[in-house]
Amino acid sequence: MAPSRAFITGSRTALRQLRPTLANACQTRFISAYGYEQAKCLAFDKYGEPKDILKLHGHSISPPHGDLVTIRFLASPVNPADINQIQGVYPTKPTFTTSLGTTDPLAVGGNEGVAEVIAAGNKVKGVQKGDWVIMKKQGFGTWRTHAQTTADNLVPIKNKDGLKPEQVGTVSVNPCTAYRMLKGFVDLQPGQWFIQNGANSGVGRAAIQLGKLWGYKSINIIRKRDTGMEELKQDLHSIGADMVVTDEEVEKKEFRDQVKSATNNGREPIRLGLNCVGGSLVNAMAKHLAPDSHVVTYGAMSKQPVQLPTGLLIFKNISFDGFWVSKWSEERPDEKDACVQEVLDLTRQGKFKDVPMQPVKWEWNTKQEELVSAVQGTLEGFRSGKGIFMFGET
Ligand SMILES: NC(=O)c1ccc[n+]([C@@H]2O[C@H](COP(=O)([O-])OP(=O)(O)OC[C@H]3O[C@@H](n4cnc5c(N)ncnc54)[C@H](OP(=O)(O)O)[C@@H]3O)[C@@H](O)[C@H]2O)c1
Repeated sequence: MAPSRAFITGSRTALRQLRPTLANACQTRFISAYGYEQAKCLAFDKYGEPKDILKLHGHSISPPHGDLVTIRFLASPVNPADINQIQGVYPTKPTFTTSLGTTDPLAVGGNEGVAEVIAAGNKVKGVQKGDWVIMKKQGFGTWRTHAQTTADNLVPIKNKDGLKPEQVGTVSVNPCTAYRMLKGFVDLQPGQWFIQNGANSGVGRAAIQLGKLWGYKSINIIRKRDTGMEELKQDLHSIGADMVVTDEEVEKKEFRDQVKSATNNGREPIRLGLNCVGGSLVNAMAKHLAPDSHVVTYGAMSKQPVQLPTGLLIFKNISFDGFWVSKWSEERPDEKDACVQEVLDLTRQGKFKDVPMQPVKWEWNTKQEELVSAVQGTLEGFRSGKGIFMFGET
């Protein structure tokens, strides 16, 4: 990374005092002769709506010593849970800290992303300069140009060859969630079916693709939309969906016949349901399941509670479960690493495709409004792709 200009004046103390102000004020990014990195982050000091509270904050990072590592972000997505976290309604709370040079504690938004190690202290083990790393846990704060941390908060990517930052930066949440839900609740056999709503979400698309690779068939429910409906159906078929229907179509009588005929009159049972949305759609989906099947809830995009008739519980013994990738990652870090590795291998081989994305370039001079509006936009439905910050040579 070539520094845009060397900054060689003043004592270290004077430099430290000046830098947060400089980073905010200057159009040019300075790197000092002492190796201080100038950084920017999208941060907040209280919970609320992203558009009201997110601010672009500049600060400096000293050269890493001991077990510290300095990283430069390459790609960080904007996921729905990131917004819930900023609103203060997500179980994992961000870390509020004064270590970014402010008097009041700030938290940096974002939980997922990929970064490159640009410097490491002399006691660092497990990662080295040039490695790509992802975050071990939620709450790291990934909407930032640079960060300093210890290696135990990072997971190095063993082989980054043939991978793009946006693929590595989005591997740890959605594909792992889909993977675990397909494997962890029902012993689904090749030729058997699962049914899911929110099928065009990042998780839904990952489930379609992994399911196809493992020989599972899928019924995929999307929300009816005024434009682009056929294109979206085609798109999901192209990544392996067997059937794609709208939330209106599943409520119609004909849907039962469609399911019967697709599943060979039930001889290929639907044994798993994946619920991203909630509300009455869960019943519309669950009533097509074979006895003793499972419905796994992982999202609540409609903000409606799950509605179910008791007959599904009493007479069909359908089980309703929940899955949270953060808890699983903390409890089973080795399984999580293996899952990340497997999905990245599939990506490298061209067998696992990225979700459609709306990249937002984050250069040193990118304006706060542009970054904040990308975050706020995640709250809107019917999007053409997932927002993702792509960092330039910041
Ligand atoms: N439990 C876990 O471990 C876990 C892990 C990953 C994700 N999640 C959750 O899974 C959900 C999807 O995440 P993602 O990253 O895959 O999402 P995403 O790629 O950003 O896609 C959002 C999805 O939500 C749908 N949607 C948006 N507003 C909606 C509404 N009002 N009613 C119904 N559907 C709506 C969208 O459909 P349209 O195109 O029709 O708008 C789209 O399918 C989120 O709730 C997220 O928090 C949970």
